[in-house]
Amino acid sequence: MNSLIQNCCAKIGKIFTGSNDIPVEYENNHIIHTQQFNPDWIDMIFGDANSIWNMFKKGTIHRSLGHSLEGKRAFIIFTEPSTRTFYSFWIAAETLGMKCNPSENAKQISSLVKGEPMSDMIEVLCQYYPSLIIMRQSQEGMMEIGAGICDKYGVTLVNAGDGSNQHPTQALLDLYAIQRRFNRTTNLKIILGGDLRYGRTIHSLAYLLAKYPGIEMYFVSPKELALPKNITEYLDKHKVKYSVGEDFRHLKGWADVLYWTRVQVERIENPEEKKRIEKASERYVLSKNDLSVLIGPESLIMHPLPIYTEVSREVDSDPRALYKTLQVQGGLMIRTALIARTFDIEIPRV
Ligand code: NCD
Repeated sequence: MNSLIQNCCAKIGKIFTGSNDIPVEYENNHIIHTQQFNPDWIDMIFGDANSIWNMFKKGTIHRSLGHSLEGKRAFIIFTEPSTRTFYSFWIAAETLGMKCNPSENAKQISSLVKGEPMSDMIEVLCQYYPSLIIMRQSQEGMMEIGAGICDKYGVTLVNAGDGSNQHPTQALLDLYAIQRRFNRTTNLKIILGGDLRYGRTIHSLAYLLAKYPGIEMYFVSPKELALPKNITEYLDKHKVKYSVGEDFRHLKGWADVLYWTRVQVERIENPEEKKRIEKASERYVLSKNDLSVLIGPESLIMHPLPIYTEVSREVDSDPRALYKTLQVQGGLMIRTALIARTFDIEIPRV
C-alpha cells in the first residue's frame, strides 16, 4: 500500500484496497474496476458465494438472508443491453430483501433521451434515499464521476459494465467459475481470445488474473482488435507473464482455460472498418475440432455470453464449456455476495 493510500485509509471504502497503484479516495464501497480488489477479499467473497449457493440449493436462502437488507433501495439502471448481468443483479438485490427499481432500457425511457447528462441522473436518483445504484453505461470515466456524486449521499455505486472499459463483477464470476472447477486461482495458463480491444470482460479479467502468482496469459485476436496498451503496460509493470499473437491453433494442449469473446460490432462506427474486422475474425471461430486438439479433458471453455458466431454451437454441450451453466449461476451467487459485503452483512457458512 503506498503512502497516499495509507494516509486516506480512514476515508476510503473497505473494498478499495488501493492495491496496484490506483489511488482512490472514495468513502463508500463502490465497485468500479478489478484493480481495486485484493486476493484475500476475493477469497472471502468466494466463500460467501459458496454458502449462498448452498442456501439456494437447500431452499433456505429466503429464511437466512431474505431480510438482511430490508428497507434499503437499489436502482438498477442500464443504458446498454444485458440479460444475465441485469437479471442476476436484480435477483441478487431482491434475495437480500432490497426494494428494487430496475430499468433495462434507461436510455430510451428516462430523461437521458432528452439529453440529460448521466451525472445529473445519478445525482437525481441519489435524492430518493437509495442505498445502491447498479449501473451499466458507455461513457468513459462516468463511473468515477458517479462514485464521487454517490459519496455525497452515502450511496454505493456498482459498475455493471462501462463501455469498452471494464466489467468488474463479470471478472469476479469468471474467476469464481475457475476456482470452483480447479480449486485454485493460481498457476493457470489462459488463452484470452476474440475482441481484446473493445471487450470489457477481457480487460477486467486480465487485471484480476494479474494479482495471482503463476498466471500465464496468451492474448489472441486479429491485430485490429489487440489489447489496449494501458493493459499490456500494467502487466509489464507487475511482471505478469503473457504473450500476444494472431494465431492460437499452435498452442496444442497448453491452456487450462480458453476464454473466448465476441466482436463488439456495436462499438465500431466506421462501416468499412467493421466489415474488415468481421472478415478478419472469421478465422477465430472455435469449432469442436479445434477444441479436441487445443485443450485437454480437464480444461475449461469460458465465454461471458452472448455468443454470436465465434463459438460453434456444437461446443455448447461439451462438459468443459461453463458459459451456460457455472458462469451464469455463479454470477448470481457472486453478485449476491458482493451486495451483502458492501453493506457489511456476514454470510453464515453452510
Ligand atoms: C458482456 C458484456 O456486456 O460486456 N456480457 C456480459 O455482461 N455477460 C459481453 C458482450 O457483450 O459481448
